[in-house]
Amino acid sequence: MKVGIIGCGSIARQRHAHEYGLNKNVEIAGFYDFVADRAADMVSKFGGKVYPTVEDMLSDKDIDLVSVCVANAYHAEITIKALKAGKNVLCEKPMAVTYEQCLEMVKTASDCGKRLFIGHNQRLTPAHKKAKELISSGKMGKVLTFATSFCHAGPESWGIDKGKGTWFFRKDAAAFGSMADLGIHKIDLIRYLVGDEIKSIYSEMCVLDKTYEDGSPIDVDDNSVEVIHFRNGAFGTVTTSWTQYGGENNQTQINCKNGVMKLYMDPKYSLVVTHPDGSVDNYDLDRIQTNTDKQQATSGVIDEVVDSILSGRKSILDADSIIGSMKAVFACMKSMETGKAVEI
Ligand SMILES: NC(=O)c1ccc[n+]([C@@H]2O[C@H](COP(=O)([O-])OP(=O)(O)OC[C@H]3O[C@@H](n4cnc5c(N)ncnc54)[C@H](O)[C@@H]3O)[C@@H](O)[C@H]2O)c1
Repeated sequence: MKVGIIGCGSIARQRHAHEYGLNKNVEIAGFYDFVADRAADMVSKFGGKVYPTVEDMLSDKDIDLVSVCVANAYHAEITIKALKAGKNVLCEKPMAVTYEQCLEMVKTASDCGKRLFIGHNQRLTPAHKKAKELISSGKMGKVLTFATSFCHAGPESWGIDKGKGTWFFRKDAAAFGSMADLGIHKIDLIRYLVGDEIKSIYSEMCVLDKTYEDGSPIDVDDNSVEVIHFRNGAFGTVTTSWTQYGGENNQTQINCKNGVMKLYMDPKYSLVVTHPDGSVDNYDLDRIQTNTDKQQATSGVIDEVVDSILSGRKSILDADSIIGSMKAVFACMKSMETGKAVEI
């Protein structure tokens, strides 16, 4: 399978190009970025060629799959163009910046007979997969409450353009702040693990510390807290932060009728299950993927997408399964505006 990558920043380097390079069924055809030097740099590291425009890449008949790794505001436009050009697409999260765009992306994939995947890597980590298995098997009993967080020091040190000028701080390019940059991972994860749809969500967001170069506060949130109720009664919180100036918090606790699951909370065991009688099962499965260069582990996203296309099987990254998580993101924006919980 031949692949093209659109957007040659941090996630394209650290995950997409790197993991395509490790997959024996894939050949990298090339790269496009509107900053041409970035595409050239990727070619020098990963092979393939530089495509001068998106259209040049999409008209290359040899390309089967395109990764969309650009700023959030352009996900929908580029994804839809690629699907219409007959390509399968792996688009980064958050899927798009309006609900209508999300629906149009899924509809276009279906109309064109192509596959569309969203890069929700958290569904694939070994400890999260084990937690899903334990919940689905019924062993843990009903999920009662949960608390999940994704907090780090902010995107200024992550994206390819470092510092306060990052597009992550601009509403026109990012649309959302930490709530959807980080929170979409956890909203989607908890929805996936609980295995039910969200009934209502209440969200508070604020700008505590991040500023533009001129010292004015950024126009997307740098911290958020969400209270989520599922239709089956489970409820709990999602916390996101771009102002955790020391380490990273990427943890989840799920309290079930038959015990407590702690995910990525213990330094040694990525899943710790404590039963009502006090007995403990420790699972040493993996370390959480982080945004620091040194610890970026293989996510499994690329292998999942490639195998799903080649075998024709459904994937847990299929875009239609992500729509419910994006609905919750848009409901958070409405909740913030109205100061009320939003029914979904
Ligand atoms: N799944 C994850 O864990 C994860 C982690 C980080 C980023 N992301 C997502 O990946 C996407 C990219 O993030 P990043 O951290 O790589 O950002 P980045 O700023 O490092 O890279 C983005 C690149 O896209 C290019 N670009 C932007 N708009 C473009 C357009 N319209 N056409 C062509 N090129 C364009 C920029 O020049 C830049 O090189 C974002 O949507 C982000 O939310 C996902």
